[in-house]
Amino acid sequence: MSVLLLHHGLLSICQLLELQCGGGSITPRVQSFILEHCMGNIVDQGTSYSHTYIRNILKKIIVDAESSSDVVVDGLYEEFGQYLTLNLEEGSQKENDRIYRQVSFLSSTIDDDVCSKPVNLVVRLVCSLNMLEGDTGCSLWPSSLFLSEFILSYPEIFSNKFNFEVGSGVGLVGIALNYVGASKVILSDGDMSTLTNMKANVELNCTNGSSNRVAECKYLPWESASEAELQQYRPDIVLGADVIYNPQCLPHLIRVLSILLKPQNREEVDNRISLHEAEGSPVSYIATVVRNLDTFNYFLRLASEANLLVLNISETAKPLNLLPYMLSYDQSNVRLLKISLICD
Ligand SMILES: C[S@@+](CC[C@H](N)C(=O)[O-])C[C@H]1O[C@@H](n2cnc3c(N)ncnc32)[C@H](O)[C@@H]1O
Repeated sequence: MSVLLLHHGLLSICQLLELQCGGGSITPRVQSFILEHCMGNIVDQGTSYSHTYIRNILKKIIVDAESSSDVVVDGLYEEFGQYLTLNLEEGSQKENDRIYRQVSFLSSTIDDDVCSKPVNLVVRLVCSLNMLEGDTGCSLWPSSLFLSEFILSYPEIFSNKFNFEVGSGVGLVGIALNYVGASKVILSDGDMSTLTNMKANVELNCTNGSSNRVAECKYLPWESASEAELQQYRPDIVLGADVIYNPQCLPHLIRVLSILLKPQNREEVDNRISLHEAEGSPVSYIATVVRNLDTFNYFLRLASEANLLVLNISETAKPLNLLPYMLSYDQSNVRLLKISLICD
């Protein structure tokens, strides 16, 4: 199963094959299937995958096959040999550092308390191998996996709502929102190269047949977004994944959240008896990994000063585990915050 760690897309297929046809090992039948169907598809996709990447995957498959099965089919060695030669020919030519990642949200059994419909969403994302590219926005981070699982587990919270995401990165959350039937989705980011990459991913995944419901991608740096621009959106739900990490950006993020979370009709809310989290007021769901406690506490302090009520709902609103094959991702590392503006 260590073969899975390399890549969730192709290798998740390998895992399924191992489990369904090979009883957990890469039998000759599984190897032949990978050769005929998976490798063929990769070659058809031209330059999408780098040669080094394919070579590494082939190597891993061969190593796993050698250790779990008596026979390794010749074709695998031949294919591996070809990619070795290609690499030598390329010499010092720079490899394309973009890869496709496939994220398959799959649930066969459904817990009635959480979600009523089985989930079957397979997302293909262009990501960077460089974690810092696009101000970190061209990589996929665990919080957006978590937030997407949350959206797919509780679709009723998001369907038929206007959802607005800040710091959207590769755009996975928007694709999940589109899947559950959000009435409108705006994804945003403050980095231009991230935005270009995000748009490509949205186009790749959000074509809804005859419907025009496709997530929009907007350039929105928290530092310079004006109050007037933010006020015009009026979302029902504001989302964010892995956006609490840079202390310098946090005051700006808090300002953006405060404006987006302002109730749409101020007079109506003022007349309510209970003004704490008034019904119909916008609410925010932020998923975050706490890497630095000081930074997280700073976020909480700024939020409190801005009259934002932050609830940790990680325990009370757990999502379904829809990515069980992703061995490097652990739901328990991610905190889910529900944030609303206290109107007094
Ligand atoms: C760690 S990445 C998370 C990306 C994505 N949400 C995910 O979880 O996969 C942080 C994202 O926030 C964006 N970001 C960081 N600072 C920002 C700022 N000041 N204004 C707007 N976006 C910002 C980055 O460009 C990046 O896309």
